Amino acid sequence: MIWASGWKLASAVSNAGGLGIIGSGSMYPDVLREHIRKCRLATNRSFAVNLPLLYPDIDKHIQIIIEEGVKIVFTSAGNPKTWTGVLKEKTITVVHVVSSSKFARKAEEAGCDAVVAEGFEAGGHNGREETTTMVMIPAVVNAVKIPVIAAGGMATGRQMLAAMVMGAEGVQMGSRFVASEEASSHISFKKAVIASQEGDTILTMKQLTPVRLIRNKFYGQVQAAEESGASVGELKELLGRGRAKRGMFEGNLDEGELEIGQVSSLLKGILPAGEIVKKVWQEFMDGLHNPIQIL
Ligand SMILES: Cc1cc2nc3c(=O)[nH]c(=O)nc-3n(C[C@H](O)[C@H](O)[C@H](O)COP(=O)(O)O)c2cc1C
Repeated sequence: MIWASGWKLASAVSNAGGLGIIGSGSMYPDVLREHIRKCRLATNRSFAVNLPLLYPDIDKHIQIIIEEGVKIVFTSAGNPKTWTGVLKEKTITVVHVVSSSKFARKAEEAGCDAVVAEGFEAGGHNGREETTTMVMIPAVVNAVKIPVIAAGGMATGRQMLAAMVMGAEGVQMGSRFVASEEASSHISFKKAVIASQEGDTILTMKQLTPVRLIRNKFYGQVQAAEESGASVGELKELLGRGRAKRGMFEGNLDEGELEIGQVSSLLKGILPAGEIVKKVWQEFMDGLHNPIQIL
């Protein structure tokens, strides 16, 4: 996750038994290299790098990922055809994030090893179709033969169990780990995340790149612009540069873009990432042994 998942969070998740992912989308190439190296020093376990395919310096990121011997790459926001072959040639496992069965099939055709099926509930950039995770998982599981990882609205072990009952082989949790001690997100943003209530997030900016965020002053400006029929160019100008950084990293809760998922309303505290993984696992096991409560 941009402005959240550096080496500290990724290594803490991996050390606890999850697969930590470094979010390279907010990193300059040399910063990415540093995070990969620090992550390797902080954990002996596997970790991955997330690579938004629309990143302007993508070829430099790819080069660093290969040079640094990263074994697993999660790609998103772009065409998986362009880089999957290059990564696979270096025996890197490639997982692509999709928002529909159609894109899942394309990822499979492009040679990806697995897909993350990310639903409407998810924080950050999202599909236009508004398909919820509950609907998307069974659809994507039916559409492809490669493993499906469920994302969007996954914050507890019981949600993870539900996703697996529907055929997912794993889950990707985002928002839950923004509210972790190791996330590099600004503390004011983390506090806003755990204070948020049902209905406080919304999927917006569908004309540009749809994104789920907290309704704040900046969102109010976007909404007003959209209602007055603003053009794509005008919306781009309003968005400007560095909005996400301003909100999530610098903690400007009024003027910044505060990307987070609907599950933020379920989150009650900021915990160490390792404790979150442990808690999720306990909830999952509890759910497995007591799956439904019958009166
Ligand atoms: C602050 C934030 C930043 C994110 N940045 C990225 C990113 O750079 N690349 C990506 O593929 N997904 C990104 N995501 C999406 C997450 O990886 C994940 O799929 C999503 O959060 C799952 O839904 P959830 O928020 O309901 O857990 C981001 C999500 C959040 C909340």
